[in-house]
Amino acid sequence: MADKEGLKVPKNYHVDIPFANQGSFHVKGANNLEWGMKKHLSNIFCPKSGNTVMFAFDHGYFMGSTAGLERLDIIVPKLMPHVDVLMGTRGALRTCISPDCGKSIALRTSSGSSMMNDDLSHEIVAVDIEDAIRMNADCMAVQTFIGADGQLTSIDNLSKTINAGLRYSVPTMGVVAVGKDMERTSRFFKLATRIVAEMGAHIIKTYYCEDFEEIVAACPVPIVVAGGKKLPEEEALTLAYKSIAGGARGLDMGRNIFQSNHPVEMAQAIAKIVHEGFTDREAWQFFQDAINK
Ligand code: R5P
Repeated sequence: MADKEGLKVPKNYHVDIPFANQGSFHVKGANNLEWGMKKHLSNIFCPKSGNTVMFAFDHGYFMGSTAGLERLDIIVPKLMPHVDVLMGTRGALRTCISPDCGKSIALRTSSGSSMMNDDLSHEIVAVDIEDAIRMNADCMAVQTFIGADGQLTSIDNLSKTINAGLRYSVPTMGVVAVGKDMERTSRFFKLATRIVAEMGAHIIKTYYCEDFEEIVAACPVPIVVAGGKKLPEEEALTLAYKSIAGGARGLDMGRNIFQSNHPVEMAQAIAKIVHEGFTDREAWQFFQDAINK
């Protein structure tokens, strides 16, 4: 292992040079993967735009009943036509979502903490590969806690999931967690996203931050941006726009959709940014027109 002292600060990200090993496949870092992996990734990332709108409603896995998600059976089907991927737990998906929904599935597979804990960083692999395959999941989502007490366990969870997924061509999405004591800086996200990608994750879910283009350039697989806490709609659309303009290949938003007073219109406006190249201004105008119809 390299000496920690005297390290040079990385700075040459070549943000203006496209990823070199793209080949003919539209998903970053997946050109050398085999058919099954590419099929799942194509279910997630639209071959035309190269991007994805994920709707995250997996919050119950550690938050229990969450504002806006009190009734999964009502809110999720309402939003389904406007998003590409449903990110949820197996309990939510099996009970509340029809298997003929026609949507891609990002299955939450790590678990183990709750809002009752001060430290959320200790998780296990709660869903095995056989069940992910039974559910025809397009990827398995594992939380990673770089720099936290649970770092080792979470990298173990991630590695086990990737190893199992590779046996059956099911991609893994590494979710970069930030805790109350963990920084949300460009330095942290550069460290965490790259570690998770080098462990073999096929998709990274993380947060938007300063120098986002450099984080994207240094990460050899697609980044999707989490929404985070509820913002006013106009600000959330700006976050979505900046993420896509900065090189993210999608959004994985939860609260900024389901806690909006107009969740359907919010999902539609985000899809305009992600798939149709709308700016935040255009998407905000679209949103306002849609809610005032
Ligand atoms: C984190 O992995 C959570 O389970 C959610 O999926 C994530 O935080 C995205 O939801 P939100 O946009 O509400 O932060």
